[in-house]
Amino acid sequence: MKDQAERLREIIDSIKNYKDDEKSAGALTEKPGSRVIAVTSGKGGVGKTNFTVNLAIKFAQNGLRVVIIDADLGLANVDVVMGKMSRYNLSDVINSNKDILEILEEGYEGVKFVSGGSGVQELVKLNKTQLVDLLMKLGKLDEEADIILIDTGAGLSENVISFVHAAKEVILLTTPEPTSITDAYALIKTITQRDKAKMIKVVVNRADSAAEAFNILDKLNIVTQKFLGVRLQKLGYILNDASVARAVKIQQPFVISFNRSEASRNLNDIALTLMENKEFSSVSVSGIKMFINKLTSLFN
Ligand SMILES: Nc1ncnc2c1ncn2[C@@H]1O[C@H](COP(=O)(O)OP(=O)(O)OP(=O)(O)O)[C@@H](O)[C@H]1O
Ligand SMILES: [Mg+2]
Repeated sequence: MKDQAERLREIIDSIKNYKDDEKSAGALTEKPGSRVIAVTSGKGGVGKTNFTVNLAIKFAQNGLRVVIIDADLGLANVDVVMGKMSRYNLSDVINSNKDILEILEEGYEGVKFVSGGSGVQELVKLNKTQLVDLLMKLGKLDEEADIILIDTGAGLSENVISFVHAAKEVILLTTPEPTSITDAYALIKTITQRDKAKMIKVVVNRADSAAEAFNILDKLNIVTQKFLGVRLQKLGYILNDASVARAVKIQQPFVISFNRSEASRNLNDIALTLMENKEFSSVSVSGIKMFINKLTSLFN
């Protein structure tokens, strides 16, 4: 089996050759790609999709171009929270030669989104030619977006773990419930067993108070440092806020319909903290192409 680095070099060479041959748009350039952030959780239903969609809108309100990839294999949750159904998904790019920019839907504040749908599963079965082709197509997202947010499914499934490994940055959500915290710990353990250096940013969602949230963040950090040797980044918290469920019911993101709510203010703080983090990649190849490449190599 080829190692990851070798496979990566091969694919990059193919893309470079393809670029020279075809002089195609959206090909590999030396400038860094989009900032790719995966949003995940150990336990399901902790608020990932609401967090992702509303964070994307906050970024957009701060002048960033954002694309959301809904990588939950099950339901098209991003559509529901955004209040707009997408007509296509990633499998349309893989199978029917659709341009990625054609299939992006536009939600609030110009945030673009694409449903992964069955396309997420197809990713892992592509041969090298198909993979290079897809990378070329998805590479256009690096020009379209400053930030790409990926809403993963919950839990320890291979798919979720792979998305988390492939993304340069990971945001892990937990609620204050003990079951959610222990599932978060289990996911941190799995992620860092494969990649000790992975920086995991943790958010406590549905907290009763800031004090409760920081207490959980502190304790989780102490436990992961002690037993896993892993230091977490305490990204922030969102209060338990009835506006969130209300917004979901009317199918509008809460930062739009309840923009003065506690949850909206908390999310704004998180967006600003992330924007202050200068984690834009320093390597020449990054962004979505690096992400897809890492993702597919993890399955081979
Ligand atoms: N900060 C919050 N305050 C109050 N309720 C919240 C908050 N965040 C999420 N919720 C509630 O939790 C529900 C589930 O949220 P969401 O669908 O975003 O979770 P999820 O992690 O994406 O779920 P799944 O794992 O099924 O994809 C929301 O519909 C809302 O009612
Ligand atoms: Mg969801």
